[in-house]
Parts: sequence; structure tokens; C-alpha cells
Amino acid sequence: MNLSQPIFLKALNKEILDTPPIWYMRQAGRYMPEYQAVRKNYKNFLDMCKDPDTCCELALQPINKFNLDVAILFSDILTIPDAMNLNVKFIESQGPVFNNPIRSPDDILNIQQFDESRLLYVYKAVSNIKSALPKNIPLIGFSGSPWTLAAYSIEGKSSKDFLVTKNFIDHNEKETHLFLKILTEACFTYLKKQVESGIDVIQIFDSWANLLSKKNYAIYSLNYIEKLVSKLKEDPITSNIPIILFARSPKCDLDELALSNIDCLSLFWDVNQMESLKLSGKVSIQGNLDPKILLESDEIIKKETFKILDTYKNYPGYIFNLGHGITPNINPEKIKFLTEIIRSR
Ligand code: CP3
Repeated sequence: MNLSQPIFLKALNKEILDTPPIWYMRQAGRYMPEYQAVRKNYKNFLDMCKDPDTCCELALQPINKFNLDVAILFSDILTIPDAMNLNVKFIESQGPVFNNPIRSPDDILNIQQFDESRLLYVYKAVSNIKSALPKNIPLIGFSGSPWTLAAYSIEGKSSKDFLVTKNFIDHNEKETHLFLKILTEACFTYLKKQVESGIDVIQIFDSWANLLSKKNYAIYSLNYIEKLVSKLKEDPITSNIPIILFARSPKCDLDELALSNIDCLSLFWDVNQMESLKLSGKVSIQGNLDPKILLESDEIIKKETFKILDTYKNYPGYIFNLGHGITPNINPEKIKFLTEIIRSR
């Protein structure tokens, strides 16, 4: 056992710890006044992501304010489709909008191949953040899953039901697979570049896993995540980097999600925690307090948090996190409170 190893890496190595490492999805974001003060200088969110010094400042804000155990790259999953000329803008109260979405099978046949050099701003943000962080704080890099990136690129925006995307994949199976293959290659190259620039851990976000039927989830999403993970585990540059998979309500069993090569599963808040205990020894677990609990009283937050800590007390490799990102309506004081009660237990 390496005593000087950060507890986040110990947990990813399936060690049982007295106090779990703590970080929060969307820990750098709109709920923080410090973030808002920087954000107001940019009209388009993606322009802010293209400024590596700003990304560095934003990634460090929650580390300094709450003394968290882990930092995450400040960027977005939509940098890849943006770099493929689909041209992403973030519009206030609407979320991401693609000026040039995939509208026809021909758009896929003609798509601009991913050029990794168009995302130099991300690799620079990684190296800036890594050098600014204290040595004992690991840095997470990330990408969307191929399926989640495809869904946004075809739909052209956020949507409740992604009907355009569902219709497209039903009628254009062959081109959908070609697109997913291109995106898998892009995610691999992009994550490898992030590793070369200094990240310690990878997280893959399958945020639109819930759109697919059980059968289609295996074919269109899991299949490509598996390919991506295998490529990362086979490449000498990325093979030692732990990989966390977050999937939002996929219609598959937890076992299937805990692909053989994944190191850790980040659980959405609807996952039955008792059910997840059977993954012991296979994968570490990250999660999964419902972020809505942070709108409740301190007593309720404490009760729900301690319930989770009790459940995973003896689980080999447990990381505290939320079941999805911190929303803009959450009071930063609640994040401070939550972090303190976990540590002082
Ligand atoms: O601390 C962090 O986690 C910051 C880094 C980060 C962001 N986005 C910054 C961001 C990360 C890891 C992401 C991932 C991301 N982006 C995901 C996967 C995680 C998830 O939420 O399921 C997804 C689906 C996106 C796409 C995206 N980015 C959407 C749909 C939106 C708008 C609505 C929303 O959820 O906020 C964004 C914008 C975004 N990404 C913001 C931040 C801080 C807010 C932008 C603003 O200030 O206007």
C-alpha cells in the first residue's frame, strides 16, 4: 500500500477508507457567486471554455472554497462536436444549440473528421490546472460517451424526449453506427491528449443513456463505451489511468454497466444502493446523493448522507458524490455543510 497516495486514487484502487474522498459533479458552476463573477464576462459559455486561464481559475474555485479531494477539468462534453464543425452555442435558458447539426445521413458521410489540434485550448487548460493544483489533488479529465455526443449532434439541442434523434437512428442504422465509430475514435484521441497534458483519472458521461431501449442501449451505447474503454486500456499512454463511467438511468443491469475494464461506476441518484453492493470487488462506486436533497434542511441532508455512508461503509472503493450535477439553485453553504459532516463523522 502506498501511504502517500491521494485517497481518491486509493478508493479507485478499491481500498476501504475511514472517510471517503469527496467531489461533486458540476462543482464549478452557476451556484457559486465566484463563478458568476467570471461568467458575466463572456456571452457564449463555450468562449469561456476556450480560455485556458479562465478554465484554470474556475476549476480551482470549488477546491479552494470547500477543500475538496478532487478537481475536474473545467470544460464541456460538447467541445468535440464543436470541433467537427457542428458549431455549438450555449443560449441563456436554452442550453446548447447546434448551428450545424446532423440533419441527414449525408451529413455523417461528409462530416469533418475530428482534428485533435482544434482542441488545444482544452489540453492547455489541463496543463494549467494541473500545475496550479496542490500535488495531492488529482485531476479528472472527461468526455461524453459516443452515444451522448451523437444524440446532441443529431437533435441539435437539449430536449426532453429527443424525438428527432430516435427517428433518425431508426431510419439510418448504418450511418448512425458510422457516426458512433467516428465519435469513439475522437473521444479516444481527445482523452489520450488530456492524459498527455496531465489528467490523473478519466470520467465518461453517458448523460443520455436513458433515451434508449434495453436492446438499443447495448447496441448504440454500451458497445461503443466498451470499445472506447478497451482502446484506452490497450494504449501504453492511457492504460494506467482509472476510468469512471457515469450513465443516467440506462435500461440495463448494473452488472452490464460495470464493464470488465471500467474501474468505477458513478451512480445516478435513482440507483438502488443495496443492489449496487453486489458490484463489490468488480468496480469502485461513486455517488449518489440526489442533488435535490441539498434544497432541504440540514437535518434531512445529514440523515440522507449518513444513510449512504452507512451503506458503503465496508465497500471496497467508495467515493462520495451526488447522483447528478449541482444545480444553480443550490446554496453553496449546503455544499460546505455536506462536506464537513462527511469528514467529521
Ligand atoms: O465542475 C464541473 O463539473 C465543470 C465542468 C463541466 C461542465 N459540463 C461545465 C458546464 C462538466 C464535467 C460538464 C459535462 C457536461 N456538459 C455534461 C455531462 C454531465 C451531465 O450533466 O450529465 C453534459 C450533458 C454537458 C452539456 C451541457 N453543458 C448542457 C446541457 C449545459 C446547459 C445546461 C446545464 O446543465 O447547465 C451545459 C452548460 C455548462 N457546462 C455549464 C457549466 C458550468 C453552465 C453554463 C453557463 O454558465 O451558462
